[in-house]
Amino acid sequence: LSRFGKVATAEATNVLSSEERSPSLRYDFAYGHSNIELFPFEAWRRALLRNARKISIPDIDYGSPSGTRALRESICAYLQRARAVICDPSQVIIVNGSQQGLALVVRVLLEPGQRVIIEEPQYQGTRQILRAAGARLIPVPVDHEGLITSKLPDDARLAFVTPSHQFPTGVILTLERRLELLAWAKRRNAIVIEDD
Ligand SMILES: Cc1ncc(COP(=O)(O)O)c(C=O)c1O
Repeated sequence: LSRFGKVATAEATNVLSSEERSPSLRYDFAYGHSNIELFPFEAWRRALLRNARKISIPDIDYGSPSGTRALRESICAYLQRARAVICDPSQVIIVNGSQQGLALVVRVLLEPGQRVIIEEPQYQGTRQILRAAGARLIPVPVDHEGLITSKLPDDARLAFVTPSHQFPTGVILTLERRLELLAWAKRRNAIVIEDD
C-alpha cells in the first residue's frame, strides 16, 4: 500500500458501519442517522416513477463529471434561498457524501506536510481525510461562541470549520468570530472550508 493507502486503511478500521454495530443496543447514540419516519416516501415514489417514464437516452448516457446540470441548477437555487449564496451551476460539483467532497478538496488544495486547522473537538471524518492526505493537523479549541479565533496560529494552508452547527457541540459561530476568521484567512492567504 502507498503511504495514503496505509493511513486510510488504519483510520477506516476505527469506524463501524451501521451493519457492524450491535443491533441489540437499547439506545444507540451513534450520530449520523436520519429519521426515516420523516422521509416523504410517497411523494418521492411518485416523482421517481413520473420522471423515470420520461427519461431519454441522453439523460442516462455519460453526463458531466460534475453531475447532472438540472440537479446543480436546483442546488444553486436552494443555496440562494437558504444560504444567500449566489453561485453558478458550473461552481457546483455533485459528490457521494462529505467524505468524497473533503477528499477532493484536499487533493486539489493541499500538499503533504502542510498545516491545516481543525476545530477541537471535530468531526472524525474530516480528521481521517486530512491524516490520510498527510496534513499537519493544528487543533484550535471551540467554546460557547464556536472556534476561538484568538487562538488561530500564525499560518496554515486550510481551516476546516463547521460554523452553522459545530460538530459535535452544536454551537453557532458568532458573527464577530466569523469576521475574525475571514480576516485571518485573508492575512495568511489561507482557505476556509465550511462543512455545513
Ligand atoms: C460535520 C459533519 N460533516 C459531515 C458529516 C457526514 O456527512 P455525509 O453524510 O455527507 O457523509 C457529518 C455527520 O455526522 C458531520 O457531522
